[in-house]
Amino acid sequence: HAFDKIRNFSIIAHIDHGKSTLADRLIQFTGGLSDREMSEQVLDSMDIEKERGITIKAQTVSLQYPADDGETYTLNLMDTPGHVDFAYEVSRSLAACEGSLLIVDASQGVEAQTLANVYQALDRDHEIVPVLNKIDLPAAEPDRVREQIEDVIGIDASDAIEASAKSGIGIKDILEAIVKRLPPPQGDFEAPLKAMLVDSYYDVYLGVVVIVRIMDGVLKKGDKIRMIGTKATYDVDRLGTFTPKMIDRQTLEPGEIGFLIASIKEVADTRVGDTITHERKPCDAPLEGFRPAQPVVFCGLFPVDANDFDELRAAMGKLRLNDASFSYEMESSAALGFGFRCGFLGLLHLEIIQERLSREFNLELIATAPSVVYEMGMNNGDEITLHNPADMPDVVKIKEIREPWIKASIMTPDDYLGPILKLCQERRGIQTDLSYVGSRAMVQYDLPLNEVVFDFYDRLKSITQGYASFDYQLADYRAGDLVKMSVLVNDEPVDALSMLVHRSQAEVRGRSMCEKLKDLIPRHMFKIPIQAALGGRVIARETISAMRKDVTAKCYGGDATRKRKLLDKQKAGKKKMRQFGKVEIPQEAFIAALKMD
Ligand code: GTP
Repeated sequence: HAFDKIRNFSIIAHIDHGKSTLADRLIQFTGGLSDREMSEQVLDSMDIEKERGITIKAQTVSLQYPADDGETYTLNLMDTPGHVDFAYEVSRSLAACEGSLLIVDASQGVEAQTLANVYQALDRDHEIVPVLNKIDLPAAEPDRVREQIEDVIGIDASDAIEASAKSGIGIKDILEAIVKRLPPPQGDFEAPLKAMLVDSYYDVYLGVVVIVRIMDGVLKKGDKIRMIGTKATYDVDRLGTFTPKMIDRQTLEPGEIGFLIASIKEVADTRVGDTITHERKPCDAPLEGFRPAQPVVFCGLFPVDANDFDELRAAMGKLRLNDASFSYEMESSAALGFGFRCGFLGLLHLEIIQERLSREFNLELIATAPSVVYEMGMNNGDEITLHNPADMPDVVKIKEIREPWIKASIMTPDDYLGPILKLCQERRGIQTDLSYVGSRAMVQYDLPLNEVVFDFYDRLKSITQGYASFDYQLADYRAGDLVKMSVLVNDEPVDALSMLVHRSQAEVRGRSMCEKLKDLIPRHMFKIPIQAALGGRVIARETISAMRKDVTAKCYGGDATRKRKLLDKQKAGKKKMRQFGKVEIPQEAFIAALKMD
C-alpha cells in the first residue's frame, strides 16, 4: 500500500542539543526550501521561541526523500516542544509517529529532558535511532556518550549515527536510517475515518489550522467532520501538507500527517488529542489517551495602571486564540483592583505569557505569587479545588488539604550534588534514587510542586552554574500540613501576598517576607508595621520607621523649576506604586518579595 513509502518520526532532544538545526538540515537536504528560504531556522517560528531558542509548539514537515533503494519516501517530521511544561503535547506528537530520532549532544551527553522524552517514546513502542550530534566539536566524545545512552536509557546504541547538524555531517545516514530502521505506518483505507488532532494554531489569514494524523479511512476536501471530544462539526475547506510551505491536496490517507482548515473560530475549539471522524459515517471508538491539558500553576495578573484593564482583557483574548492551555478569569483584589486569575501549564508557560503581554502588548503588570491547585476535603464531605489562596475557606471547616507532588529528575556533574541535595531537602523533597554515570549523577526526588513554583529553577541554575538539568512529571496529590499565611502592611492584609505554605516553613517564610518588604517599601511620614500571620497569630514582624524630612525641604528658597522637576519625578515614580490603605507599595516589591532565598 501507499503507506509503505511513508515514515512518521519525531525528534527527541534536550534543549540546545541541536534539534532545530538538524530539522533544518533535513529540510534543506531533501529540497523543501531554497537556500534563501533556509536563512532562518524555519521550525521555530514564534519570536520568543527564536529569541530564547526553545521550541514551544509542535510543527510538522513532509519531506520527499529519494532513498538508496531507488524509491522515493515521504518522511513526516513532527517537531516536539522541548520543555517539561508541554509534556502533554509531546505525548500527542509521539502518538502520531512510529519512531524517533534521539539527538544527544556528543559533547554533553544525556540530560534530564532526554530521559523523560525517550521514556515516553519507548512507552509508545517507538523504534529509536540514536544520533550523536555536534561531533565537529573538539570536546565531542561519541564513544563515551554511546556507552552512556546504553547504560542510562538501556537501548542499543552500537549503530548510533555520528553527525553534525551544523556542518552537515551524517545527514544522509540519518535519512537512510529513518527509511530502513523505522517501521511504516499502518491503517485501514476502507474503515470509517479516524484521525488524531495533533496540534493547532491560529493564522491571521487562514484562521485555525489543525494538524492531523490519519489513522484509518480517507479525509477529503469538502467532507463534513466531527470532533468526538468537543462534539462540534465542521466542513473541511482546505487540506494539505507542509513542505514546510503549505501544499494543497484533495485527500489525506491513512498514515499521513497534514493540515486541515475548516472555519474553526478559535484554537480553544480544538483539543489536542481529540479524534476527528466523518459526521455521516463515524468510527465506533475514539482514540485512546485523550485528556485535555490542565493548568497546574495559577497566578493573578493585574495592570499597574487601572486604565489598562480593558487593554489587558483584549490582549489575553488574543493570546488565548492561539494557546488553549492558557486560561484566565476576571478577579478583583482589594489591594490590586481589577485583574485576572490565570492558569498555566507550568512556570515556563507563565513566564512566556507574561513576557508576551508586556512585550507585544506593551502592558505593565503586577503578578501575584504563583500558586498550585490545591484540593480540599471539607468536614461536611464537600470537595473543593482552590486556585487562589485568597479564596481559602474558613480553616475550621477544612478536614484535609492536599497538594500536587511531582517526580523530578536532576542530572548534574557530581561536584554540585551536595548543594542540590540540600536544596531538595529544604523544599521537602524525598529522595527516591541516586545513580552515577561516569562523573555525572542522576538523582530522583519526589517534591511538592508548591516548593518548585517559586524559584526552584533559578536556585538550581545558580548553585550549579547552569550545569544541572531538571525535568519533572506531575505525580499525585498528597495530604499536607498546609496553612494560609497572610501579610499585613500597616494592619491591612495584602491579599496578593497571601500564600499557602507548609506549617514547618511558615515562620521562616514569614520572617523573610517581612524583612524584604521592610527594605522594599519606601518610608512614609508615619511608622509602618509589617506582619506575617497565620489566622490571627502573628509569626513575624518588622517596622519601617517614619520619614523625618520633607523631600522638597532642601529646595526651599531654590528655583521653582527644580522643585517642579522633583515633584514630577516623584509623580512618575508613583505610577508604579499601589496604594494599600495609607501605604504605597512599589511594584517591584511584589515581585522581589515573592522570591525566596
Ligand atoms: P530547542 O529548540 O531549544 O529545543 O533547541 P534545539 O535542540 O533545537 O537546539 P538548536 O538546533 O537551536 O541548537 C542549539 C545550538 O547548538 C545552536 O547554537 C546551534 O548552532 C548549535 N548546534 C546545533 N548542531 C550543532 C552541531 O552539530 N555542531 C555544533 N558545533 N553546534 C551545533
